[in-house]
Amino acid sequence: MLEEITPGTLLVETGTIRNMTITIRDLTTDGADDLQAFRAHFERHRLESGNSDIHFMPFDPAGSDRPGGLDELTLAYPLHEPRWQRWFVAVDAQQVVGHVNLRGDGLRVGLHRAELGIGIERAWRGRGLGRRLMQTALDFALRSAVIDWVDLKVFAHNQTAIALYLDMGFVQVGYRKDRFRIAGVRIDDVEMEYPVGGA
Ligand SMILES: CC(C)(COP(=O)(O)OP(=O)(O)OC[C@H]1O[C@@H](n2cnc3c(N)ncnc32)[C@H](O)[C@@H]1OP(=O)(O)O)[C@@H](O)C(=O)NCCC(=O)NCCS
Repeated sequence: MLEEITPGTLLVETGTIRNMTITIRDLTTDGADDLQAFRAHFERHRLESGNSDIHFMPFDPAGSDRPGGLDELTLAYPLHEPRWQRWFVAVDAQQVVGHVNLRGDGLRVGLHRAELGIGIERAWRGRGLGRRLMQTALDFALRSAVIDWVDLKVFAHNQTAIALYLDMGFVQVGYRKDRFRIAGVRIDDVEMEYPVGGA
């Protein structure tokens, strides 16, 4: 089971994705450089939401709130510990340009489900990285032998992301109208789930 694998040895993979040499690896608290590069990436990505792009994160860029992001302590939690997190990053020439993350449920009785989040910086989108990172997270879930369902939430106007999720086998299980109001704009939220190994 994955839980027995030392964090940091889980996944380091370098390959060519549409002519880019990209390394995908899991983020660990041991890798200070990776963590610093990740934080810089997450901040660049956060600033894109609602500025140079559609809103894709549930916060008002003009306000003081910030999206949750990485909780470093939880990287070392085993998968039977509530609120565990695993983050996988895509690195191009030492720069983190994308991430995907899974979070365990906050309740012990919900730990057969994990929630997925993903983000690719704008300049690296549309080149296969999103699909590749999604597959990394789904492979992790499959190999875990613990996670039976991967859940996600996505703004209804984010058609690019929804098309990718549907194509990867996610199904829509919920739709909440007027879930967020960002700068006065009403945003509907779509809930999707993926049955790991057919669940
Ligand atoms: C959604 C997102 C993760 C997709 O990642 P990506 O690297 O751009 O996607 P990929 O290049 O792997 O493309 C995957 C598929 O999406 C579709 N797609 C990608 N860009 C597209 C575009 N601009 N228009 C329409 N479809 C597009 C294609 O169908 C593609 O399929 P293919 O592999 O058969 O070509 C990325 O666009 C992103 O980070 N967006 C901003 C943050 C965000 O929305 N996060 C999700 C919040 S829930």
